[in-house]
Amino acid sequence: MLKEIMEQPQALEKTLHQDRRKFTDIALDILRAGQVIFTACGTSRYAALVGRYLFAKVGRKFSDVVIASEFGYFADAVDKNTVVIAVSQSGETADVVEGVKLARDAGAKIISIVNRPNSMLADMSHHTIHLNCGPEIGVAATKTFLSQLAVFYLLTFSMINSFGKARIQLRDMYSKVAEALDCNNDRLNKLSHKLRDKNDFYYLARGINFAIASEGALKLKEISYVHAEGMPAGELKHGTLALIEPGIPVITICPTDYTYNETLNNAVEAKSRGAYIIAISDKESDIYDFWIKIPQVDELLYPMIAVVPLQLLAYHMAVARGYDPDKPR
Ligand code: BG6
Repeated sequence: MLKEIMEQPQALEKTLHQDRRKFTDIALDILRAGQVIFTACGTSRYAALVGRYLFAKVGRKFSDVVIASEFGYFADAVDKNTVVIAVSQSGETADVVEGVKLARDAGAKIISIVNRPNSMLADMSHHTIHLNCGPEIGVAATKTFLSQLAVFYLLTFSMINSFGKARIQLRDMYSKVAEALDCNNDRLNKLSHKLRDKNDFYYLARGINFAIASEGALKLKEISYVHAEGMPAGELKHGTLALIEPGIPVITICPTDYTYNETLNNAVEAKSRGAYIIAISDKESDIYDFWIKIPQVDELLYPMIAVVPLQLLAYHMAVARGYDPDKPR
């Protein structure tokens, strides 16, 4: 897992070898669709959630993400004017395959985003986009998640005929991801030893970064077995705030993007209850108890940068708690 976290800049570079025309054709299918439904599980579902925010903000196309195991309950709403985007790095996840079968039977157009070309999902799709980032051995997805985000970024900008510009922006991300890996690894290792006996973590973010809060929580759960919850920061006060007690780690993803001010206010709400605020941001604040500095990037690219320290935190927490991240339960 650590090897795959560290090779993300290289994985990203491989993912960017995509066919411009293919992306433009798929982008047009999405724009022409009566409705667009993503279906995925786990980490891939959080990548799809980033895609949802990007499609809305840049492509001005609304879509929704349906949990693959719930897809059957929505199948009656799927028709020939529906585009279903199935996201699965293995291309074999049964819940996703089942949902796609139902969608095909309803006449929908199937677009899949997979890391394994000869997978079941690829065989069932009208269009397949390959991550090309090399096999992912770790059960907990890391490099394939970053590659999925890059694919969504390319697909979104293809909607406004800017595939080339998007690819150039993503090429600039190699060094930014490498920077996010290098400048935090040791500090996160130390932080993990400080927090290893904590039993509840909350991850807060807004907008496009909310998907990363959820992904960060999933990583912690699946390899270090600590309860964690990703929350839309604005939702904290509607109940969950009651659970925030002194010393509880609250990880706040608050880059200086369009969500910055409100997210910082939500961190203050948690801090007023005694939370230990761990902030992922390009900008310092005395609200933070622990600052994980990330480089400044275009505001739609922060998800690709913010996820890196959360992968490392989950990895180091697992090791600090005496577990093997490569053999999760
Ligand atoms: C789960 C894994 O079983 O499947 C997650 O524990 C993964 O890490 C999820 O994200 C989805 O897998 P895939 O291959 O469909 O992306």
